[in-house]
Amino acid sequence: MPERKTFYITTPIYYPSDNLHIGHAYTTVAADALARFKRLTGCEVRFLTGSDEHGQKIERTARASRQTPLEYVDKIVAGFKRLWEALLISYDDFIRTTEERHKRVVQAIFSRLYEQGDIYKAVYEGWYCTPCETMWTQGRLEEGKCPDCGRPVEKVAEESYFFRMSKYADRLLQYIDEHPDFILPVSRRNEMISFIKSGLEDLCVSRTTFDWGIPVPFDPGHVIYVWVDALTNYISALGYGSEDDALFKKFWPADVHIVGKDIVRFHSVIWPIILMAAGIELPRQVMGHGWLLLESGKMSKSRGNVVDPLVLIDKYGPDAIRYYLLREMPLGVDVYYSEEALVERINQDLANDLGNLVSRTLGMVDKYFQGKILPPAESAEPDQELVELAEETPGAVEDLMDKREIAGALAAIWRLVGRANKYVDETAPWALSKDPEKRGRLQTVLYNLAECVRFIGVLISPFLPATPPRLWPQLGIADRPDLQTWDSLQWGRLPQNLATHRAEALFPRIDPEKALQK
Ligand code: MSP
Repeated sequence: MPERKTFYITTPIYYPSDNLHIGHAYTTVAADALARFKRLTGCEVRFLTGSDEHGQKIERTARASRQTPLEYVDKIVAGFKRLWEALLISYDDFIRTTEERHKRVVQAIFSRLYEQGDIYKAVYEGWYCTPCETMWTQGRLEEGKCPDCGRPVEKVAEESYFFRMSKYADRLLQYIDEHPDFILPVSRRNEMISFIKSGLEDLCVSRTTFDWGIPVPFDPGHVIYVWVDALTNYISALGYGSEDDALFKKFWPADVHIVGKDIVRFHSVIWPIILMAAGIELPRQVMGHGWLLLESGKMSKSRGNVVDPLVLIDKYGPDAIRYYLLREMPLGVDVYYSEEALVERINQDLANDLGNLVSRTLGMVDKYFQGKILPPAESAEPDQELVELAEETPGAVEDLMDKREIAGALAAIWRLVGRANKYVDETAPWALSKDPEKRGRLQTVLYNLAECVRFIGVLISPFLPATPPRLWPQLGIADRPDLQTWDSLQWGRLPQNLATHRAEALFPRIDPEKALQK
């Protein structure tokens, strides 16, 4: 057997300073759709997510609620896992930066960089932004505030360790140049290139003003800067540097780190330089997606405008939320969230387009052939166009997924849904059913529609994983996993004389007035 291609995909590890909102859910849902797609198309996939548990902000938040940091994060992290389960996130591993397996690796890399002279000790004077866990020099501040988030910064002067980033700038630029897909989308890539060219400062990589972090192994009064700690999760979770490093050997370098636009710089500048210095291969891609915005501004607890994904999942189901998030966010673009738009997507794309296609097809199979899909017997004009589109769609979807165009991939699948609905109107089975001589034609039309529904069921499975298991029994192929695979997407594989079982609508229409009542 030839070895299967591997695919390693990661989400950022989330700060457990608070519960996650719908914006965080987007990152993870996008990664999950890619992971599931790669599994479907035959790769051996490793999908990692986790939590970034150290840092001053978490230490302070925990204290304010009279808990130790670990007590505090334990509860929040349990909530992360409940959310991922409710959203059907198929992660293979969940890494917490407070785990031994992680701390060991962070300390080992820090020591190595120190020993080889890439990390040195000096006195640091600067400005610290606690919410961003980022240190700034005076010159970088904007109107005396953090240039990233605009919040106030605190003056610090302390002995710290520094990482010689500038030493690796040219090599990084060369890597970016030689790997055009390393940073996606192109707009972010260009931004990173100018950032690096504008000159990299040495990075302060330790703190002494708080304890909640991984100690510098040879100088325990210092804790390691959270971003060095956090980024290392991508290799510590694979057992890098441990006795059992089989996963690291198999899956590193990562195929893609999915991250939000605000943290592209950490992933495409600091992380690659840490890896270069440690003599480890660089990841193949950093994909920076846009943000889900609210009309009322940035989602935050203090503004009281946080959208809780669990409430939405309860109300509309995981597949509807996943569909909305994935369909509304083209690569790298910001989008405004609204529940109205979510309900509109459910009613239009899921209930009307997909739901109707399935219920019309099975309803007609019931009505005209007592629930049996009979062999095709007589073809006519619009068949070829439908069949061609069905046969082309898997390849088109795969191309788009390889370009990380998830919204585009869904649009391509929905073109097939739309074409099949149009085929119903063109062939008018209700008219064919009235003429006994057209029975052969009617058999063909319903076979073609059922086969299209099977294609669509396979194609949507990475995006809407809860739906195909409800579709297969209706189509009569629940016990035929061989007809639910990517490789089975060859026109005509749907067996003839199948007994179907029509069931309730996949996506009932939602009454917007009732649903949106506040
Ligand atoms: N802990 C760091 C990541 C370390 S990775 C080595 C962190 N955590 S975070 O919890 O603040 O954010 C995690 C991810 O959620 C980021 O990719 C961020 O862009 C994303 N999002 C946070 N709010 C978001 C929206 N409103 N919309 C889309 N993504 C959002 O950063």
